[in-house]
Amino acid sequence: MDRIWMINRLMPAVTDREKPLGGIRYYAQGGMTCYILRGKRGDLLIDTGLFQIRRGLGKWLEDYRIKHIFLTHAHADHDWNAAGLQAKGAEIILSERDRGLNRHFMSQPVKPTHPKYFLRNLTQWMNGSIFRSPAYKADIYFTGSGEGILAELGYPAEIVPLPGHTYGSAGILSGKVLYCGDAFTALWKHPDITPHAVSIEEMQDSLRRILEISPEWLACGHGLPLRFAEARPVIEAYLRKRG
Ligand SMILES: [Fe+2]
Repeated sequence: MDRIWMINRLMPAVTDREKPLGGIRYYAQGGMTCYILRGKRGDLLIDTGLFQIRRGLGKWLEDYRIKHIFLTHAHADHDWNAAGLQAKGAEIILSERDRGLNRHFMSQPVKPTHPKYFLRNLTQWMNGSIFRSPAYKADIYFTGSGEGILAELGYPAEIVPLPGHTYGSAGILSGKVLYCGDAFTALWKHPDITPHAVSIEEMQDSLRRILEISPEWLACGHGLPLRFAEARPVIEAYLRKRG
């Protein structure tokens, strides 16, 4: 039996082909979402998902020429397939502040962003210590907003530092879309505050930054892209209560 077929039965993949949303190119499976930005000299993959989506994602990527991989942060559910794609020639871009986080989850121990996530947070610590992505070194480590590195590489985009979930968490702003990694989430099929952060204060500052930017679309690391109009009240309510 074909393995992609079997995984797809258990964990159906949704892409922009089946469900077009704001012209955003995405591959969503098993609660993880990866994105493509087309550039002048090749394509940029934003995040790579966990091992379960390796084959399906690989098949989807056959239509693209991946030159760069931008990791919104170095958690296993975002960087697991980065080393494999790097071996095929793609260059990895990662924040300097997440250097050393790959395979060392507890070097940036996350805290629950709401008391109800206390138990879930313990599971994160366990999973983070057990599921360690294949090792890689990024080809480009950036600081801050990367001094226009994406534009230099031929992508119509800029890096937006969105620390909090991890210290190096960062997003990409391209036209009407903010690709925000885990700075915000659509994990439960509706817009919500990410359940874990290494620094709650930095996460709240990043949420304020997202409000300032007010993109038309938010493309999160978990869940399908959503219109920012749906996310805004959730962020504002959270910051009113806790910010
Ligand atoms: Fe994460």
